[in-house]
Amino acid sequence: MMLSDVLFKIKKKDPTFSFRISCRQGVCGSDGMNINGRNGLACITSIKDLLKKCKKVVVKPLTGFLILKDLVVNMSDFFDRYKEIFPYIIENNENGCIKKRNHIQSISQRNKLNGLYGCILCACCSSSCPSVWWNTDKFIGPAGLLTSYRFLSDDRDHGKNFRLNHLQDSFKVFKCHNIMNCISSCPKNLNPNRAIRKIKIMLLKNMLNLT
Ligand code: SF4
Ligand code: SF4
Ligand code: FES
Repeated sequence: MMLSDVLFKIKKKDPTFSFRISCRQGVCGSDGMNINGRNGLACITSIKDLLKKCKKVVVKPLTGFLILKDLVVNMSDFFDRYKEIFPYIIENNENGCIKKRNHIQSISQRNKLNGLYGCILCACCSSSCPSVWWNTDKFIGPAGLLTSYRFLSDDRDHGKNFRLNHLQDSFKVFKCHNIMNCISSCPKNLNPNRAIRKIKIMLLKNMLNLT
């Protein structure tokens, strides 16, 4: 039995009890919450495993987000910061003309994206990051920066300089102080901190014109 099954049982008793859920298989990212002090997805968290470690299960909404009701939080800041990294391939639009063509990629170039594209936007990482709590309107946060690095690493993308110039300030990236909570809280075993460190190096090289 998963934690989400218990949440549904509670909802049966109290229909006003509110939480987000959709796929129930760890894919959509809608049921991120704090479970016994650690962020995770209710749909893939086994009650049996939780009870092995602790006699009771305490569930709270994601930390650092405005609570709308029960376990439902306001994700607006999270998605606003995500939009700031332009989460799509930027085309070569020299002369204002977007070339329509296939985006062919070699196997080795494709392999560079491994570990960078599996984010399901559950916000478990951002919610566990103190830098996000204090700079929610300025620091992009681990989820957005992981995806930013995914596009900076993609040889089909033509927006590298644009992306780096946009990230070049003291908040968007450099507010990451390597606290590493983002790694331990990611239910997809991704490593946002490694991506952030790579972006920092790119930004420093960009600043010193070493690219
Ligand atoms: S490593 Fe950076 S992004 Fe990750 S939790 Fe720490 S400060 Fe936040
Ligand atoms: S990096 Fe991991 S924890 Fe963060 S939003 Fe993506 S899937 Fe969730
Ligand atoms: S319900 Fe979709 S990830 Fe849990």
